[in-house]
Amino acid sequence: MKIGITYNLKTDFKGLALAAEDALEEFDSEKTVDAIASAIVKIGHEAVKLGGGEQVIGKIKNEEPSLVFNIAEGVNGRAREAQIPALLELLKIPYTHSDPLTLALTLDKSMTKHVVKSCGVNTPDFLVVSDTAELKGDNLPGFPLIVKPAWEGSSKGIRTNSKVNNFDELETQVGWVFKNYPGQPVLIEQFIRGREITVGVIGNNPPRILGMMEIGFKENTKKDFIYSLEVKRDYEKLVKYTCPPGLDDKVAAKVEKMALSAYDCLHCKDIARMDFRIDEKANAYFIEINPLPGLSPDYSDLIIMSKKLGIEYEDIIRGIIENAVKRYNIGEKIESCTSV
Ligand SMILES: Nc1ncnc2c1ncn2[C@@H]1O[C@H](COP(=O)(O)OP(=O)(O)OP(=O)(O)O)[C@@H](O)[C@H]1O
Ligand SMILES: [Mg+2]
Repeated sequence: MKIGITYNLKTDFKGLALAAEDALEEFDSEKTVDAIASAIVKIGHEAVKLGGGEQVIGKIKNEEPSLVFNIAEGVNGRAREAQIPALLELLKIPYTHSDPLTLALTLDKSMTKHVVKSCGVNTPDFLVVSDTAELKGDNLPGFPLIVKPAWEGSSKGIRTNSKVNNFDELETQVGWVFKNYPGQPVLIEQFIRGREITVGVIGNNPPRILGMMEIGFKENTKKDFIYSLEVKRDYEKLVKYTCPPGLDDKVAAKVEKMALSAYDCLHCKDIARMDFRIDEKANAYFIEINPLPGLSPDYSDLIIMSKKLGIEYEDIIRGIIENAVKRYNIGEKIESCTSV
C-alpha cells in the first residue's frame, strides 16, 4: 500500500518573524517524519513524504496514496489541524487519526471542556476572557489558577508563571498571553494540585487504553509540578516518567473510564493522548486531549510511555494504520498487528 505522510516541519517556517519564542513548538522535526516513514516501510508499505504547505495539494494528486498518515498541525487559527483532513476528504483519500471536526474542536481547550463535561467527564472549573477588562474577582474559580492561551498545544504559552496565586499575578499573566498569542482568548482554569497522569487510547469500536504514565519532577520538591515549556525543554534533567503509574486500582479504573468517555464523546479516531490530574482526595480531572499526539521517537510522551510498556515504535505506527485501514475497509496486504 502506498502511504503518504502529511506534516509541517519547524524548518518550513524558518526566518518568519515569530510572535512568541515557542511559536514553532507544535511542528515536527525531520527526524520524526523519517522515523514514521521508516516504520511504514518496515511494516511492508511504501512511504511518500507529502509535506503540509500549499504544495501538498499537487503532491497528493500526483502521488495518489491509498492512505495518508496525517500528523500535520496546520497553520492559522483554531481550526488549523482540520485543514489537511478536510482537504483529504475533498479528494476522497483515506487518512489516519481524527476527522476535521474533532481536530478543530479539540484544539480549542474550552470548547473541548464544554463537550466532555456534557458527557459526564469531570474537568476543572474555568472561564474564558477576550480582554483583561473582563477579569473580575467574582466570576473566577478560586485561586490558584492556571492561565493558558485557548487554542494551543505542545505547552505553547505555558510557563512556570502560568500558575497564579492572586489577582495581580492573574492580570499580569493574562496580559502576557494576550501580548504573545494575539487574536485568541485566554483560558483561566482551576489549578489542580496533585498527580499528573497522561493516558494513551488506541483504536475504534471499541477503543482501548494503551497505557497510563505519571509525569512529575525527578527530585522531591514542594514546588507544584507544571509540565511547562521550560520543563519540557529540560525533560531529561527534570522529569520523571513512571509507567505504569502505580495508582490505586479504583483511581486507575476511574481515569481509564474518563479517558474512554472523552475519546468517545469527542469522536476520536485511531489514537489520542490525554492529560489528567488527580487531587489529594482522589478526584480525577480531565485537562486536555491530543488527537494528534506527538510521535517523536525520542521525546514524545506517548512514545516514552510505549517504550516503558515494551511496545516498539513501529507497532504504534502499525496500530494507527491498521485502525484507519479497518475504518475505511481498505485492508489488502495488511499483516496482523502484533502488540498494539
Ligand atoms: N488545570 C490544571 N491544573 C494543574 N496543572 C495544569 C492544569 N492545566 C494544565 N496544567 C499543567 O500545564 C501543563 C500543560 O497544560 P496543557 O496540557 O493544557 O497544555 P498543552 O500545551 O496542550 O500540552 P501538550 O503538550 O500535552 O499538548 C500540563 O501538563 C500540566 O502540568
Ligand atoms: Mg498537555
